[in-house]
Amino acid sequence: MKPISIEVWNPSGKYRVVSTKSMPGSRWIRLLTEQDCRVEICTETKTILSVDDILALIGDRCDGVIGQLTEDWGDVLFSALRRAGGTAFSNMAVGYNNVDVDAANKHGIAVGNTPGVLTETTAELAASLSLSAARRIVEADQFMRAGLYDGWLPHLFVGNLLKGQTVGVIGAGRIGSAYARMMIEGFKMNLIYYDLYQATRLEKFVTAYGEFLKANGEQPVTWKRASSMQEVLSEADVISLHPILDKTTYHLINKDSLALMKKEAILVNASRGPVIDEAALVEHLKANPMFRVGLDVFEDEPLMKPGLAEQKNAVVVPHIASASKWTREGMATLAALNVLGKIKGYPVWSDPNRIEPFLDESSPPPAASPSIVNAKQLGLPSSKL
Ligand SMILES: NC(=O)c1ccc[n+]([C@@H]2O[C@H](COP(=O)([O-])OP(=O)(O)OC[C@H]3O[C@@H](n4cnc5c(N)ncnc54)[C@H](O)[C@@H]3O)[C@@H](O)[C@H]2O)c1
Repeated sequence: MKPISIEVWNPSGKYRVVSTKSMPGSRWIRLLTEQDCRVEICTETKTILSVDDILALIGDRCDGVIGQLTEDWGDVLFSALRRAGGTAFSNMAVGYNNVDVDAANKHGIAVGNTPGVLTETTAELAASLSLSAARRIVEADQFMRAGLYDGWLPHLFVGNLLKGQTVGVIGAGRIGSAYARMMIEGFKMNLIYYDLYQATRLEKFVTAYGEFLKANGEQPVTWKRASSMQEVLSEADVISLHPILDKTTYHLINKDSLALMKKEAILVNASRGPVIDEAALVEHLKANPMFRVGLDVFEDEPLMKPGLAEQKNAVVVPHIASASKWTREGMATLAALNVLGKIKGYPVWSDPNRIEPFLDESSPPPAASPSIVNAKQLGLPSSKL
C-alpha cells in the first residue's frame, strides 16, 4: 500500500486518532491533544479518499477515526479499524448515509455524527437557494457581467413574490423546521409540511406568529400537516427537501412527483442528492422553463447529470449548506469529542440536540460523547449530566 501524507500533532500521545481531512479551526485538535491523543491529519491533496487510502491511514494501530461523508465506511474499514484496536468513528456530518451502521455494530465500533450545530446554517442556505431561484439572482448576475444590461425594462428578470405563497417542507426535522420558520417569519409564507412525525413545535410557532400578525392588522400565516407528500407537491409554491437519505427517500422526487408540482414551482434540495432522480429533473427543467430549482447536493457528486449545467432555471452550488465558519468549526469539535469520548470510556450525551455545552469555548466540554448513533445497539451508557 502506498504511503499517505500526514501531519502529526502531539507525537507522544497515548491514543492514535486519525482525521481523514484537515478540518476548520484548531479547538478540535487541542481538545484531543490535551487528553493524551496523538492526532494525525491526512494531507493528501485529492478530494475524495478511497477505501485503500483510508486503510493505509488506519494502519496497524489506531484508536479512532474522524471521517467525511464522501467516504465509504463499510465492513472493510470497520473491520480494519477493529483489528487496529479502534473502537470509535465519527462522521463530520449529521447525515450518515455513507456509513454502514450494521457493519460498525458487528465490529463494536461507535459511530458519531454532528447534529444541531449545522441546523441554522443549512437552513439559511436552503433559504438562499429559494430566494435565488425565486428572484433569478444567478441568471441576472450573469446577464449583468456579460454587459447585456442596457436599461430598466418592465419584463426584465421577473420572478416570484414569496409573500402570501405557500412553502412546502418535506422532512420537518431540525433543518426542515428551521427553514420553515425562516420562510414564514421572513416572508410571511403559509406552511404545508410532510413528515412521518408531527412537528408540534413548528405548528405552535406558526399559530403564534399568525396570531401576532392578525393582532397587527396583517394577514395571518397558516399551517397544514399534509397526509401525503403528494399533497405538499401539488399545493406548495416553494418546496424544500430536508429528510434523511435512506431507502424510503431515495428518488422521492421523480418523474411522477415532478408532474404533480405547479408549473412555476421552486424546488430546493439541501439534503442529499439521491433524494431526487436528477435525470428526471433535468427533463422537467427543460420542458418547464418557469419551474426553478436550487440544488446544493447532486446524485453523482461531484458530477451533475448531463444537461443540468446548461439549464438557466437551475441554481447550483457545491454542497456548501453547512459551510459557515462557526458551524464547520463546531462540526469538527463534535466529531473529535465523539471519538475522544468513546476512547476515554465516557458516557453518551443524553440529548444530541442540546449540544451547546460542547461548543462553549470558555469552559471545558462535558465528559461525554455528544452524539453516537448506535449507542443503544452497543449498549453504551447514557450521561446523567
Ligand atoms: N447539504 C448539506 O450540507 C447538509 C447539511 C446538513 C444536513 N444535511 C442533510 O439533512 C438531513 C436532515 O438533517 P436534520 O438534522 O434536519 O435531521 P432530522 O433527523 O432532524 O430530520 C430529518 C426528518 O426527516 C424525516 N423523514 C424521514 N424519512 C422521511 C420520509 N420518508 N418522508 C418524509 N420525512 C421523512 C424524519 O422524520 C425527520 O423529521 C441529514 O440527514 C443530511 O442528510 C445536508
